[in-house]
Amino acid sequence: MTALPPNATIGLVGGGQLGRMSALAAARLGYRCHILTREVDSPAAQVSHAVTISDYSDPVSLRAFAEAVDVISFEFENVSAEGLDLLASIKPVRPAPSVLRISQDRLAEKSFLNGAGAETAPWAPVHSLAELREAAARLGLPAVLKTTRLGYDGKGQAMLRTQEDLEPAFERLQPKPLVLEGFVDFGMEISVVIARGVDGSISAFDTVENRHKAHILDLTFAPARIPQSVDAAAQATARRVAEALDLIGLLAVEMFVDRTGRVLVNEIAPRPHNSGHWSIDACPASQFEMHIRSIAGLPLPPAVRHSDAVMKNLVGPADVALWPQILATQGLIPHLYGKTEAREGRKMGHVTRLFPRGALPGDFGIRDALGVLGEDA
Ligand SMILES: Nc1ncnc2c1ncn2[C@@H]1O[C@H](COP(=O)(O)OP(=O)(O)O)[C@@H](O)[C@H]1O
Ligand SMILES: [Mg+2]
Repeated sequence: MTALPPNATIGLVGGGQLGRMSALAAARLGYRCHILTREVDSPAAQVSHAVTISDYSDPVSLRAFAEAVDVISFEFENVSAEGLDLLASIKPVRPAPSVLRISQDRLAEKSFLNGAGAETAPWAPVHSLAELREAAARLGLPAVLKTTRLGYDGKGQAMLRTQEDLEPAFERLQPKPLVLEGFVDFGMEISVVIARGVDGSISAFDTVENRHKAHILDLTFAPARIPQSVDAAAQATARRVAEALDLIGLLAVEMFVDRTGRVLVNEIAPRPHNSGHWSIDACPASQFEMHIRSIAGLPLPPAVRHSDAVMKNLVGPADVALWPQILATQGLIPHLYGKTEAREGRKMGHVTRLFPRGALPGDFGIRDALGVLGEDA
């Protein structure tokens, strides 16, 4: 395809903050966005040209949406296989439905990753309690039991420490089947966000370090403070996965670094990712601009970073209550997502703090630099 011309319309499936920030980047490149979402007054629709409010599986709405746009992409991955095929029969869908099908299903994802030569924690499919007992005996405990579909922010998983944990976790987690993963005693969690264009060109952002709190991403440090060899392995893994997927679009690769420095892939997401939000402020072209450029057939600039950065998520009512102080703190770059209701555990916004390249402080310095947000960091 030739590049999408200015004023063309990009269809984005999903109305959350990832869609909002993609739509803002699209607007700067002269495009309009049309959002497909279930939600009235969604973060993405607030800043977009048009919105279709519908279920993600209604064929009439999917068809009308596809007909109204020039290219289709996602911030929400869990569209049904039939829905994806319907969209793809009308307009180019990027990343392709085949890519989404892999990332929607942890079993398909892990088989694919291992087949592409990317290492993961040991894993086994679990369809029954008997199969779980057998898998736990083989992989050992502790282990993590997860749903294969629809998990996010730690929802849909259970840590298994003893034999007694197996049955209640198996009963609780839905939908089946499940997957059992060996527990990785990681030294660090890292990720790489990588864009691949229509012509196969690649731009990869620097490897970053991620810290979670209550299973929700809390902090991202750019760059990750890792040895060069670990960085090289992470970057090579991300590139290998993007190429094996024949990706057109953006991909986030979440990885563990184990105590011996080995890099294991945790999961992949073919869309902008929370661990790439720092790039809005620290890079000439953010992950959202790379997302839009890659699906629109525009050239991909190098994913250079002009500053070091730390990103902190604003989660739930407690963090939102700090908004006035955040705005009053010099050096904090604020981002709010336009959500009216601050439920517990809900991502409401984030802040970025920049440092000169090479001057990312240690944990104490970061805490200090985050001001009122650093108190619990
Ligand atoms: N096999 C594992 N070993 C150790 N920690 C894990 C494992 N799987 C998940 N975790 C922890 O739980 C977090 C969320 O799990 P993940 O599979 O990424 O699901 P989600 O879809 O919720 O992001 C990970 O970032 C990591 O901190
Ligand atoms: Mg994850």
